[in-house]
Amino acid sequence: MARWAADRVLHRLRTRSLSVLGVATGSSPLPVYRALAASGEPALASLRVFALDEYVGLPHHHPQSYHCVVDREVTRPLGLDPARVHVPDGAADDLDAAAAEYEHLIAASGGIDLQVLGIGANGHVGFNEPFSSLRSRTRVETLTARTRRDNARFFGGDLQQVPTSCLTQGLGTILDADEVVLIATGAAKAHAVAQMVEGPLSSACPASVLQLHPRATVLLDDRAAAQLTRRDDHEQAGAATGPPRNP
Ligand code: F6R
Repeated sequence: MARWAADRVLHRLRTRSLSVLGVATGSSPLPVYRALAASGEPALASLRVFALDEYVGLPHHHPQSYHCVVDREVTRPLGLDPARVHVPDGAADDLDAAAAEYEHLIAASGGIDLQVLGIGANGHVGFNEPFSSLRSRTRVETLTARTRRDNARFFGGDLQQVPTSCLTQGLGTILDADEVVLIATGAAKAHAVAQMVEGPLSSACPASVLQLHPRATVLLDDRAAAQLTRRDDHEQAGAATGPPRNP
């Protein structure tokens, strides 16, 4: 899965149809960034990168701030110019102004060509929690109890340390990306994945907004795909079908 996503990035890079990459944090896309780093592709250095979101209230140097995570997992391994890597400023005094500035910066960069996404167990993308407006833009969002519990693992299991709010690109912002590639693994994502792919378009499952996207690819392992009722079974699909069809 990671190799498919990385190859997609590299293909677009080499055919000059990718200059702005959107990156998700969390654990799901990390193998993609490792595969990109392992490719040694020199053109990666020309990328401009936008992160999806950032916690509010963590200083930029906090190891779990997405400023630090993106620096550690993306900027350094891929050899990017830090001046071309952007993360919403969750430490800003004026968060609304920081959100508006982030939208402006994305637009001024020509928009995101390819957005890498994960999905929360509650169906969030970015940190657009259930019942986010389907047309929302970058803004302050309150994290749900579920998301805070799920992310406590990054804070030594201490829920008290997990921020209660964030700045996140909106669902409308994500929809504006030219292409999106979402990665989900593990049984904990199975219900959200089924809602996203087969459920109704509904803000109750924010990821279902991707049904509106003309170029969305969803990469799943068997456990994350387990609740899809319309999946081909393995035998029918053939053992080695290669890259996903009908994304
Ligand atoms: C993080 C983000 C979130 C995560 C989601 C899944 O930037 O946008 O939507 O992608 O919470 O996180 P993991 O991959 O850790 O399960």
